[in-house]
Amino acid sequence: MKDILTIAMPKGRIFEDAVELLRQAGFRLPPEFDDSRKLIIDVPEESFRFILAKPMDVPTYVEHGVADIGIAGKDVMLEEERVVYELLDLKISACYLAVAGLPNTKMNLIAPKVATKYPNVAAAYFREQGEQVEIIKLNGSIELAPLIGLADRIVDIVSTGRTLKENGLVEYERIVDITSRLIVNPASFRMKDERISELVERLSEVKRLQSFETL
Ligand code: PRP
Repeated sequence: MKDILTIAMPKGRIFEDAVELLRQAGFRLPPEFDDSRKLIIDVPEESFRFILAKPMDVPTYVEHGVADIGIAGKDVMLEEERVVYELLDLKISACYLAVAGLPNTKMNLIAPKVATKYPNVAAAYFREQGEQVEIIKLNGSIELAPLIGLADRIVDIVSTGRTLKENGLVEYERIVDITSRLIVNPASFRMKDERISELVERLSEVKRLQSFETL
């Protein structure tokens, strides 16, 4: 009998891309994946158990070993700094982290405020730039902050750029490119190495074939 592999999947933006990628790798995921509110989905025919988690929490589940494997954005990895191995760049859900704000505005010189869902990444970035800022942690709709006078700048994900544009904001600096990664708990990596290697090989093969298609 195969070991059950527990996989933490991020709900939201990355979820659909991740499900599609697993299907492209030949894993049979039931239709439940496309429209379900379940938080745990067992797929006995593949010996998988999926946990559907908030994206920011995926590395926490993997670090604590309640999930063997996880799919997490590089943004979350940079912010959370969890003790997990990053096995593969899945190259899905590409976007980037940027500094943005209202057009033609300078940062307030006295205690400029930066709103973000990524306080650690933002603090490190402005420290590197030699700029002292006050970080304001928000949990979503970050683009609201400069519009209502809560912050001079935001640090947030830009994907299509639509949210910035539709709210009259502009990008000032691009911080880092982001894609999703396959991460693994170090103990699971040793104990379930055969299953994990097979998963990595199948996903790598899909990525390899896709890289030829884009040539
Ligand atoms: C993310 C991000 C931006 C938006 C960018 O928000 O925080 O708000 O997507 O995408 P775009 O460049 O394609 O417009 P998300 O939808 O994850 O929701 P949130 O507001 O809860 O962070």
